[in-house]
Amino acid sequence: MSLNEYRTHYAGELGLDVVGEEVVLSGWIDRRRDHGGVVFIDLRDKSGITQVVVNDEEVARPLRSEFVLKITGTVFKRSTGQENKRLATGQVEVIAKSVEILNTSEALPFQVSTALEEATDEKVGEDVRLKYRYLDLRRPSLNNALRLRSQANQVARSFLEQQGFFEIETPTLIRSTPEGARDFLVPARLNPGSWYALPQSPQLFKQLLMVSGFEKYFQIARCYRDEDFRSDRQPEFTQLDIELSFITTNDIYKLTGNLLHELFKLIDVELPAVLPQISYADAMSKYGRDKPDLRFGNEIVDLTQYFASTPFRVFQAQYVGAIRYPGGASLTRRQFNAWQEWAKSRGARGLAYVQFTEDGLQGPVAKNLSEQERDGLMQVTHAKVGDAIFFAAGSTVQSQNLLAMARVEIARRLGVIDNDLTGVAKADDAVLEEIGAPPFQITRGADGRAWSLVWVVDFPLFKPTSRNDDDISVGSGDWTAVHHAFTLPSDLQNFDKESEVALSDSYDIVLNGNEIGGGSLRIHRADIQQRVFDLMGIEEDEANEKFGFLLEALKFGAPPHGGIALGWDRLVALMSGTPSIRDVIAFPKTGNGVDLMQNAPARITDEQRAETGIDAVLERET
Ligand code: AMO
Ligand code: AMP
Repeated sequence: MSLNEYRTHYAGELGLDVVGEEVVLSGWIDRRRDHGGVVFIDLRDKSGITQVVVNDEEVARPLRSEFVLKITGTVFKRSTGQENKRLATGQVEVIAKSVEILNTSEALPFQVSTALEEATDEKVGEDVRLKYRYLDLRRPSLNNALRLRSQANQVARSFLEQQGFFEIETPTLIRSTPEGARDFLVPARLNPGSWYALPQSPQLFKQLLMVSGFEKYFQIARCYRDEDFRSDRQPEFTQLDIELSFITTNDIYKLTGNLLHELFKLIDVELPAVLPQISYADAMSKYGRDKPDLRFGNEIVDLTQYFASTPFRVFQAQYVGAIRYPGGASLTRRQFNAWQEWAKSRGARGLAYVQFTEDGLQGPVAKNLSEQERDGLMQVTHAKVGDAIFFAAGSTVQSQNLLAMARVEIARRLGVIDNDLTGVAKADDAVLEEIGAPPFQITRGADGRAWSLVWVVDFPLFKPTSRNDDDISVGSGDWTAVHHAFTLPSDLQNFDKESEVALSDSYDIVLNGNEIGGGSLRIHRADIQQRVFDLMGIEEDEANEKFGFLLEALKFGAPPHGGIALGWDRLVALMSGTPSIRDVIAFPKTGNGVDLMQNAPARITDEQRAETGIDAVLERET
């Protein structure tokens, strides 16, 4: 059996069944160990590692880590006691007959062999790893994450194919689509002074494909957003983008649930068939954010009414809420002070607290409360003797946000969830009991990791326009779309009369406190779209200029439609258990949006500059 002249077998596949056979292997030297006269080589290829024994000193002498070899030899069963349980091929070894060096390698800037990495406990800077990303990708952990991503792509494709979807590519040089972030712009040489935008998502195109009658579209789509980058955000990222016609929100929930069910089988997790839902309003009041981590309970308690006539100045606020810290009564004064600093570094004024002890209510704030307030506090906050509670007072939005962060941080410190940005964690049963059971059933993988998926539904249609935040919103009106301007209002009659309470048919899917996807039903009638634009203060001229093509399309028999986009990098990162979406992107960018390997972005030459016509407008205007 010969695969080709480089190999008869893959290194990771050799087992007892081929003992006695002559094999040809090709790959890299993962590790080389000299045992005086005999050299052991761990030969690595894409499938794994086989131990090769080179008995000829002359042949073995020049061999170094990461050299590329072609080896011909015979497979032997290792003698008893010599097996390596850590290798899939650990029961056999290959005694080399000939060794051909296909290429040499300079010493690597860092170790890529797991065995060596463990042995040397090498700590290599992230910058060096990114500069030599192609080498870093030789490391099994990164390599495995990208393999999982490849498998996830295949599962999604075949699942959607079976459901009758068409995979359709849409352009990436487009007119800018309003998705709430800044666009990356590309100069158009043939139209000096004009610019393309890179798509923030295929949103308008997928809607147009519904007008075209495809009914079921998907695309693994690259999206570009010029935002502040974080561990869960990259300037270019990938969505599994989906759109369907003649559907309701329930169809989307079912489809997405089934898809996630298939995907999680890749990591041996059996998700429930139907995923739970929580309203946006409930998510905010109980957990303080629209992407609640529901691997554990511990709801925020709204104490605004309770403190309605409080003598404590700090609590005379629009909102007062509290979060319970199980066992927190035994924290030291220094630890509580550290929590104050923790809150201040997140923009809060402070973090008031009380401790429930055998001797009653303690802590500096206790004395500021009325007797009545003190007496009832344990009951309203469902606290026990031995617990502490933190308070946030002030604007509802800011206070809920702080309590949401404190809720997760408390869970982290209690070991309910891992100390990890993406929140990949093991919610331990014993501590779960302490902090409060999750509101919905969580799913556990064989490795103990806990998975909680929830739909957040009934989002508000609009939010008041904020002129000073980072959101680049279209329109000059008092209202900005929460999702985007094409989202279907839930109540078509009254949404513009009651814009402050109007809900939309939009939804987010949240995994362990991470928003891994979102979508909506869309407006498919031009008259409704017009009413939304009116509210957002988008003038007819502006609307026509920016998305006249969509408005026009809605006039030609646009079907009812809707869709969703899953944040593919985030989903795969969570599944593979890495702390950053960088680890599931082959060639990612740093926090500043820089590709350290290529050194991009880079300056362009004067000729390029002239050719692109990027100065044309400036010349015209001066
Ligand atoms: P949305 O803006 O919610 O929806 O994006 C969908 C999902 O994409 C992921 N995501 C990101 N991932 C990595 N880096 C980023 N910078 C980044 N930004 C977003 C998130 C998010 O949930 N057109 C709509 C979808 C629709 O309505 O069908 C859209 O783009 O996981
Ligand atoms: P002060 O009276 O400002 O010294 O605050 C008393 C306590 O309340 C301190 O523990 C502060 O950290 C805390 N505190 C101050 N402002 C707030 C706030 N907006 N929300 C919660 N706690 C606060």
